Amino acid sequence: MTTILGLSGSLRSGSLNSSLLRAAVGQMPTGVTLEAGSIKGIPLYDGDVEAAQGLPEAVTTLKERIVATHGLLLVTPEYNNGIPGVFKNAIDWLSRPSADIPRVFGNRPVAVMGASPGGFGTLLSQTAWLPVLKTLGTAAYFGGRLQVSRASEVFDDDGTLVDERVRDQLRKFLAGFCEFVVAHQRGAR
Ligand SMILES: Cc1cc2nc3c(=O)[nH]c(=O)nc-3n(C[C@H](O)[C@H](O)[C@H](O)COP(=O)(O)O)c2cc1C
Repeated sequence: MTTILGLSGSLRSGSLNSSLLRAAVGQMPTGVTLEAGSIKGIPLYDGDVEAAQGLPEAVTTLKERIVATHGLLLVTPEYNNGIPGVFKNAIDWLSRPSADIPRVFGNRPVAVMGASPGGFGTLLSQTAWLPVLKTLGTAAYFGGRLQVSRASEVFDDDGTLVDERVRDQLRKFLAGFCEFVVAHQRGAR
């Protein structure tokens, strides 16, 4: 069995990116499960807190969820043409202590997708993730991409994906990433 952990980079209840993650859960190919995790409850990174108390429980729990799964799917919003601070902050905490980076992120299959109400569908924030994924030593997935633009029209008021074309794109993107994750699982990690 193969399991992927998905994280939305938005905290708000009506998040388009959390809606995209929920839609993805229902579009997974046979044999692969997508678990929707959350960055909620992760405080702002503070080196003094880390030195005095170690990692917050929410961070430790999420780290171990990443380690227990076979791939990571980041569903990123775009703020000011970059990565939203809350999402980058969560990954920064998850990268501590740095000696643990190989265990948590090293050679781990990671894909990025995202949704925005604008016309470019998180193109620039997805690009901004690249140096982060490289620095952490992940096995980034480049076999496909999914940038959901005009996303307010793609989801209804309940956050349900109502656009057939985007559903098809999502299914294809996930199928490609899952193939990548399974191939990785079979090879040496
Ligand atoms: C501070 C801020 C900056 C934003 N900058 C961008 C941007 O550069 N590009 C873009 O497409 N949308 C931008 N937006 C709009 C977001 O894409 C939109 O709020 C989106 O719904 C956020 O994702 P969410 O629905 O998952 O919370 C910005 C929103 C905020 C709050």
